[in-house]
Amino acid sequence: MSNRGHFASKFGVLMATVGSAVGLGNIWRFPYQVGNGGGGAFLLVYILAVVLIGIPAILAEFIVGRESHANVVGAFQKIRPGSNWKWVGYLGILTGFVIDCYYCVVTGWTLYYLYASLKTGFLGQTPEAYSQMFSTFSSSVWPPIICLIVIIIVTGLIVSNEIKEGIERASKIMMPILFILLIVLSVNSLLLPGATEGMRYLFIPDFTKLDLSTILSAVGQAFFSMSLGMGCLITYSSYFKEDVNLPRTATQIASIDLLVALLSGVIIFPAVFSFNLEPSQGAGLVFIVLPNVFSQIQFGMIWSILFYILLFIAALTSFLSISEVVVAYITESFNISRKWATVIACSIFAFVGSVCSLSFGPLSDYQLGSMNLFDVMDFSATNLMLPAGGLLTSIFVGWIIDKKIILRQLNLDTTNRQHIIILKVFTFFLKYIIPATIFVIMITGLL
Ligand code: TRP
Repeated sequence: MSNRGHFASKFGVLMATVGSAVGLGNIWRFPYQVGNGGGGAFLLVYILAVVLIGIPAILAEFIVGRESHANVVGAFQKIRPGSNWKWVGYLGILTGFVIDCYYCVVTGWTLYYLYASLKTGFLGQTPEAYSQMFSTFSSSVWPPIICLIVIIIVTGLIVSNEIKEGIERASKIMMPILFILLIVLSVNSLLLPGATEGMRYLFIPDFTKLDLSTILSAVGQAFFSMSLGMGCLITYSSYFKEDVNLPRTATQIASIDLLVALLSGVIIFPAVFSFNLEPSQGAGLVFIVLPNVFSQIQFGMIWSILFYILLFIAALTSFLSISEVVVAYITESFNISRKWATVIACSIFAFVGSVCSLSFGPLSDYQLGSMNLFDVMDFSATNLMLPAGGLLTSIFVGWIIDKKIILRQLNLDTTNRQHIIILKVFTFFLKYIIPATIFVIMITGLL
């Protein structure tokens, strides 16, 4: 595997994997999930899901990736040659395509909102005008398509390079900027007059809202937010060198991802409450409610520019990671250069992504139930394909692969009693807890 790329530094590993994890899932999805799920009550379940399911599941992907040093299909093939496990890899590639084709649409919206805040700073409009602005923009034909094509070109230019010159370098520049923006924006929000009410909404548990569906959405959110279930972390860890400590890296990703989600809540809710806006807006929260907030606070133009840069960086580094899964597969399976693999993958993203974007406008009549194409793709990827991939990967590492691989990758030693306990607990989670939890989620989600 000597001619394969790898991450040059441990800092690069951390920035790229955290870049993948921190995305629209943290800044856009997490806050309103908390709102719908009873604030602190949801948070409690979410933290349990991160620790008990998220960390072992990240480790399972890491073990498969670094052991095989191959793309997601190649990884399963290498560890279990000639078996049907390679289909889990193909499922991952398909999921990557599906997610990328709608993720680029929303990432495109963040670019447009960044442009809009640079141009006008969302000044002096009524709340209805912002809502109108969002629906006019998202249902139009060319502006969202142009935005998503720009995003895909930028991603293509980064991904087509070898890992350390492409994804690693881009993440090492963008992620520190993201952390600075997060802190600046949270402090600003906390200084707003209605901040305490927003913090109460986020942190005080309302256990009456805690039911089975909240618990399930907390687990689903944990999966999406930590980039689990489609081999994204298998692909990234296939570029890790042997000196990367896997358990430590898994814990760091989970904690930073959680922290960023919390800080996003801290940025958004105080601002929303301070201006008496509706917190449970779902998808519209960052594109409709926040422009209202920015139009009313002092130096709103600056805050809106900073916020949309934050959202843009978060979305772009996640989009990059999903694209890498597909590009690595095409490169290694068809033995073509990364440049050509990128051109092929990006052309498909651009085409299907554009159709997906049109499902808010001219194609909105084509519906399945009450879902347009975008919703169908989001639903099938998040609720079906990711959990299925996560379930199968856990079973693969828990039941199928040789224990020696786990011992080697986690640096455990069978003569050490403590290490044996760690191995037992870890495999117990992979064998029983994760598959059972995901199984229940999928069944309940489908009923
Ligand atoms: N974790 C990212 C977010 O929070 C999205 C993402 C990137 C993802 N790679 C993934 C989700 C792989 C599932 C699987 O927005």
